[in-house]
Amino acid sequence: MATANQFIKPLTTKINENGNLEIGGCDLVNLADKYATPLYVIDEFTLRSICKDYKSAFAKYPKSQMMYASKALCSLATTAIIAQEGFGFDVVSGGEIYTVHKAGADMSKVLFNGHNKSYDELCMALDVNVGRISVDNFFELSLLDEIAKSKNKNVNILLRITPGIECHTHEYIQTGHLDCKFGFDLTQIDEVIDLLLTEYTNLHLVGLHAHVGSQIFESSIYADEIEILIKEISRVDEKFGLKLSEINIGGGLGVKYVDTDCPPSVVEIAEVIIQKLYETTEKYGVELPTLILEPGRSIISTSGVTLYTIGSSKQVPRATKYVSVDGGMADNLRPAMYQAEYCAQIANKPEIDDTLQKVTIAGKFCESGDILIKNIELPNPEEGDILCVYNTGAYNYSMASNYNKAPRPAMVLVNNSQSDIIVNRETYEDLISHETIPNGLKEQ
Ligand code: LLP
Repeated sequence: MATANQFIKPLTTKINENGNLEIGGCDLVNLADKYATPLYVIDEFTLRSICKDYKSAFAKYPKSQMMYASKALCSLATTAIIAQEGFGFDVVSGGEIYTVHKAGADMSKVLFNGHNKSYDELCMALDVNVGRISVDNFFELSLLDEIAKSKNKNVNILLRITPGIECHTHEYIQTGHLDCKFGFDLTQIDEVIDLLLTEYTNLHLVGLHAHVGSQIFESSIYADEIEILIKEISRVDEKFGLKLSEINIGGGLGVKYVDTDCPPSVVEIAEVIIQKLYETTEKYGVELPTLILEPGRSIISTSGVTLYTIGSSKQVPRATKYVSVDGGMADNLRPAMYQAEYCAQIANKPEIDDTLQKVTIAGKFCESGDILIKNIELPNPEEGDILCVYNTGAYNYSMASNYNKAPRPAMVLVNNSQSDIIVNRETYEDLISHETIPNGLKEQ
């Protein structure tokens, strides 16, 4: 069974009776008209559908908890939807803790990750009773124990470890290789346990955590990771008599941005993961652990598209034709940062005809590198057309900036022909709302 991460477009995408693109029953040209552009659009059906696929694919395994990686897109409404689907949340900052808490997430199903959590963030995590903290390093162990003691609390922790696995993804989004800033080396685990048993007595180690990278297409990576984690659990049991009951294998499942991307389905990775868990627990003689997964991109990416209005076009003599849109690297940093590729269609003329031209979609920001899509074929792109870029749900809004003093776009949720604003467009007033001119300057 194919799952949403294997499609470029949201599952409800179609061409309607006006000849326009439609998602969630909403005509994209009407959305652009009503809410202006650039506009992030999230299709609720696609989002719920992949959450359900994750749940049902892992339902065969007796104990599992899905925790959506909020960093992919963290907003009140999307958090509320994902929480309704029974997910917990992986959070990595005070801001994400605050947002998921405000959205009504069950905090016992929240895991706080990160390699440099601050004193204030750790206090906040304990105050709102997050279920788990994944501890990354020796400094954090001591800091967290000190805070836990001062608040008279016991804290369930996982240890973030570096499994030494390299995956074939962009080097900036690999996280499991040995010389990396995340987690403990396997050789440091015994020292950590000694400290936990003697000094850090308010911290209770319940399991191990690893994450090898993002935009992964090989299911076997998860099997390799499980082999390492279960072997370690068995070794810790033998040496310390300590039974670790949870493994968190991170996120990372890839999505299909362009035709050449072939990510496995959620069902396929679930089969590999579950089979490997049974095999290794038997091989190493340990109890089946609770399985935690932290998918981010594969949950939210396909449900999102971004709408832009086309402005100027420029044919460089004997070279590229640039078609510029009213957004770019401030709302989607991924092409500039990771050479990420995207697909797009013109929402008001999605059908391919004999006016097809090969063009490059340029963002409006003052950087030569602000190119959204190179060499895409579109039917006669003209000023005023609405361009729909697919698969922008993950790491677009969450990495957006105000570069060139651009207000961040609005976001709408679409479903059953209804659209609702879930993030308001920033205004110029918002842009300066945190700024002040010191009195001394005013007098000059
Ligand atoms: N868990 C941990 C510990 C992580 O570091 C990440 C992502 C995830 C889960 C979720 O991974 P996902 O399922 O989304 O692949 N900005 C980059 C991606 C950075 C991912 C960082 N960590 C991009 O736009 O491609």
